[in-house]
Amino acid sequence: DWQLQNVLKEEIEKVSKMVGPDDHVICALSGGVDSAVAATLVHRAIGDRLHCVFVDNGLCRYKERERVMATFEKDLHLPVTCWDATEQFLGKLKGVVDPERKRKIIGAEFIAVFDEFSHKLEREIGKKPAFLVQGTLYPDVIESCPPPGSGKSHSHTIKSHHNVGGLPPDMQLKLVEPLKWLFKDEVREMGKLLGVPASFVSRHPFPGPGLAVRIMGDVTQGNALETIRLADEIFINSIKEAGLYDKIWQAFAVYLPVKTVGVQGDKRTHSHAVALRAITSEDGMTADWYHFDGKFLADVSSKICNTVRGINRVVYDITSKPPSTVEWE
Ligand code: XMP
Repeated sequence: DWQLQNVLKEEIEKVSKMVGPDDHVICALSGGVDSAVAATLVHRAIGDRLHCVFVDNGLCRYKERERVMATFEKDLHLPVTCWDATEQFLGKLKGVVDPERKRKIIGAEFIAVFDEFSHKLEREIGKKPAFLVQGTLYPDVIESCPPPGSGKSHSHTIKSHHNVGGLPPDMQLKLVEPLKWLFKDEVREMGKLLGVPASFVSRHPFPGPGLAVRIMGDVTQGNALETIRLADEIFINSIKEAGLYDKIWQAFAVYLPVKTVGVQGDKRTHSHAVALRAITSEDGMTADWYHFDGKFLADVSSKICNTVRGINRVVYDITSKPPSTVEWE
């Protein structure tokens, strides 16, 4: 696409002009497409004066940290620090059940970790980083600054998403937002132009608060994290094997804090249930549940019950958005 190629070239030039020759830039990589594309673009413009961090908050999916770090380092050659903050996040989340409190805690903890990273960097390079890269897209810009008279405002927020504008005000970083005029499909195309692997570019969206909003109740309860990681991995792999991944906007497993009675190997069990959710959507604002055929669901269900310890029941979510939201919390 020559048009997008030109946009890319212009954006790279803009970034090189905006960032002074001695300025350093920081960027938090979430593991998603937007931040990866934004960082790669900025890296083309200013090289290793870009400093990225990937924060492992302990709420990542199965092998997520290893997988995204491999993409950043081997495919994209990005300068990235992997920051393990698992204990810090899980410690703060212990015993917390309320969904909004979980989100607030995760948002605040993320800011604290990012602040720590930026101070450590400052000691290393001998000056304060001056800019912050964000993978803001055009729809984020519209959603966070609703046009006057549209009747929308921040006070109508249904869930507190923590990826837009969520950094400490005293950080005094200027923003670099090279994707802020683009839609998601354009970002994916631009990613391909920048050498982001196709499998990474087509990844389903994943919420900032991670598995915390997919484990109902306390995220640190029992083996919830480990269990949901395995169930989710089985579900996603089955979807990929069936060739359905790109037809689905998002798919995932949810941990239910209820125990139900089952019978496995002639024995009575009293174990947890997981819910599966898969949706189609244009933009995440509205969604329909994905109509799998019965055999597919039956196969996934038996695979999960047979391989994931502590699970004896699988249910499928057949609710659209509205009335439900995409995530369960
Ligand atoms: P909901 O659950 O609000 O989700 O219907 C709509 C879309 O947004 C994603 N989502 C988030 N993304 N930070 C994010 O970056 C968040 O805090 C967050 N919460 C939900 C969700 O996965 C779906 O794609």
